[in-house]
Amino acid sequence: MKKVAHLVFIISLVQVLSGSVSAQNLLQNGNFQQLNQHWIHLSQNGAVSTHAVTDSGRTTGDTCLRFSVYQLGSNAYDVQSIHDVWNATTGSPYRVTLWAKANANGRKIRIIAQDTAYLNSDLTLTNTWQQYTWDFTSPENGLYFKIHWFEAGTFMVQDIAITKILPAPIPSYPDSLQHYANRINLNIGAALFPSGLVYEPAYRKIYNQQFNAMVPENAMKMPDLWPNEAAGIQWKDADTLVNFAMRNGKKIRGHNLLWYQGIPGWFAAKTWQPDTMRKFLKNYVHTVVGRYKGKIYEWDVVNEIIEDAGVNFRSFIVTNTLGNSIVDSMFVWAHQADSNAILVYNDYAIETGGTKFNTVFSMVQSMKQRGIPIHGVGFQCHFGNNSGSGFYSSIENTVRQIAALGVKVSFTEIDMALDKPIQQPDYVSQGSCYAQMLRIVLRNRPIMNTFMMWGFTDKHSWIPQYFTNRDETLPIDRNYYPKPAYDSLLAVLKTVVPITGNAKDISKEILQAWPNPSSDGFMLTGLTPGQTYKIVDITGQIREQGIFSIGQKVGEDLSTSGTYIILAGDGRKKVMLVKE
Ligand code: XIL
Repeated sequence: MKKVAHLVFIISLVQVLSGSVSAQNLLQNGNFQQLNQHWIHLSQNGAVSTHAVTDSGRTTGDTCLRFSVYQLGSNAYDVQSIHDVWNATTGSPYRVTLWAKANANGRKIRIIAQDTAYLNSDLTLTNTWQQYTWDFTSPENGLYFKIHWFEAGTFMVQDIAITKILPAPIPSYPDSLQHYANRINLNIGAALFPSGLVYEPAYRKIYNQQFNAMVPENAMKMPDLWPNEAAGIQWKDADTLVNFAMRNGKKIRGHNLLWYQGIPGWFAAKTWQPDTMRKFLKNYVHTVVGRYKGKIYEWDVVNEIIEDAGVNFRSFIVTNTLGNSIVDSMFVWAHQADSNAILVYNDYAIETGGTKFNTVFSMVQSMKQRGIPIHGVGFQCHFGNNSGSGFYSSIENTVRQIAALGVKVSFTEIDMALDKPIQQPDYVSQGSCYAQMLRIVLRNRPIMNTFMMWGFTDKHSWIPQYFTNRDETLPIDRNYYPKPAYDSLLAVLKTVVPITGNAKDISKEILQAWPNPSSDGFMLTGLTPGQTYKIVDITGQIREQGIFSIGQKVGEDLSTSGTYIILAGDGRKKVMLVKE
């Protein structure tokens, strides 16, 4: 007796240390030793199948379930095996393991965790026994485990187990990127998805500790907000992100209001009259931007409207129905809904100049000339491991060129994909890529103050799904440990001199007192005549006594002959001065 207890203790200690799974199988009779107890098998709507518990498992005498499907029913779910509800807990991670084989290579089965929610994984079997593993986080308390037999064939399954995954310890970071970014009003952040924040403590904690800004990766795209026409807009996911950001003091970018890939199926299937589509989009922009007014500092109003060839506007249902002038309208409507939000045109393959950049440049120039409220251009920056310094200087040139039109530039979706097979030195050069990008932002404040990455951990990046030969694009690895890219970003941020002593951050006063962004200015009083101030941070333009513009560069000196200066510019006035 004593010996047994001792053994159990050792086993559980080993499991805790390995941070993997606890041993207890939450399914009953997952090995079919009690025949079909706790299981029921369905075959309906014309399906023809047989099932039997046999002893022809992996080794002679092992019991397994043999399921033969001769004919499918009218639905993919007509033939299934269902295990009784097992004791799942909302938010806990679980691992399903099972052994399986089929009578021919390539036959598939689907395993499912389901109650009101439905999670599934399709397993492609071979004709020899293999073990399969599927990890998921339970969205609710109590789930059924199901197998859908949705292809004809004979299948064997054995030793099905669901075990709770013990959470791996969350890495602790001695330092924080946002700590340094906050001192210089830099927005450094990442695209987030809501269930990561809700269900993954490491995701929530590391993000919250390290970053001060966020953008929904998908939750504010039209198909995500409005998946079903009749059901109307579903705010839940977008609200989860916004509420989290507000509670934790994160700045929010909105992404996006119009995108050729962001068209819900029902919208694309409808026959539209131009005036109804216009009304619809106007109302949509007012509703979405209006809901988050004052919470979202910057919106991607139009995303990727220029074709890859770089010359023409994309043709898709919206431009086909309303023409290219819809771009202007989108900005006008967004401005009506939140006159303080920075309104951005966002695109890729424009960062280093060239034909597509020139087209965007002309578009923005024309919009500015016609008084369309566009305030920024987003460079997405989905890059590879670009080592040449020429690459970064061309980005900086492009930033300055377009900023000369009187717009800000944000890096909106940075990632630096590594080509597989990935070698150790790749991580170091990736770090220097991230550092060079951050330096561009720091050198070009206040034209730039947003360094947004498309995710922050390699565990959750869109790249491996879309570009199968590339991976590990972000500064934090799959297990939430910092990579050299993280260290490089931190090192660059630490070089920035913090604002201390006589620094006067008047951004709040000015935002409140600014009555009319297009009028001639807000007066900043209380300066000492003859005193020289250094400009540490600024948006908008400074005029001294309404007479001359002194430009708008961080690092420049402002020597005032009077007690006030006047700020003018784009509607979001802010200046930070330090006495010399
Ligand atoms: C991507 C998301 O990361 C994916 O999860 C989604 O399946 C497709 O969209 N440019 C953009 C982003 O503007 O919205 C895209 O995001 C990546 C490319």
